[in-house]
Amino acid sequence: MDSQVLVAYATKYGGTAEIAERIGQVLREAGLRADVHPADRVSDLTPYKAVVLGSAVYMFRWRKEAARFLRANEKALAERPVWLFSSGPTDEGDPVELTEGWRFPKALQPIADRIQPRDVAVFHGVMDEKKLNPFEKWVIKNVKAPMGDFRDWDTITAWATAIADGLKASSPQSRTE
Ligand SMILES: Cc1cc2nc3c(=O)[nH]c(=O)nc-3n(C[C@H](O)[C@H](O)[C@H](O)COP(=O)(O)O)c2cc1C
Repeated sequence: MDSQVLVAYATKYGGTAEIAERIGQVLREAGLRADVHPADRVSDLTPYKAVVLGSAVYMFRWRKEAARFLRANEKALAERPVWLFSSGPTDEGDPVELTEGWRFPKALQPIADRIQPRDVAVFHGVMDEKKLNPFEKWVIKNVKAPMGDFRDWDTITAWATAIADGLKASSPQSRTE
């Protein structure tokens, strides 16, 4: 069981779930075993050799399920290789520039500092006006963020491929092929 990777995610409207599924698919195609689960459905990290955790971003914060996962599993995460990602900015251009340097919630940074993730990525997100509630529509109108699907599958795939390469290099016997 030591080659298993967990991809845990928190989403509101499903966009981040699809990113997590894509990461899981890339890891499996690279010969690793990967489980993709909502962060609030995972309570035991024992079976997992490595963890990828991602959340949708709302008002510069992670979804509470991802924040809780990070807090509840800090010790287990600190003992494993961990990759974090935020998915949010909707627009063309570098996602970190779009968020003016924001990468990860400030409130969670002390935990991340202790976990020492291998990487903290920011991916473009997706926004469908039909799904948003009136308050959300008002917020988005004010910040003038564009609607649409800006997720960059090539970047996400490359990121997941680098994770797979790193894990396979650190334990070649964990390959399933
Ligand atoms: C009310 C609201 C606030 C948002 N705030 C942020 C934000 O602070 N930073 C950001 O990068 N994206 C923000 N977004 C964009 C979402 O993160 C983006 O739509 C994301 O892909 C949603 O993921 P989900 O479908 O998994 O819920 C916001 C979207 C809404 C509707």
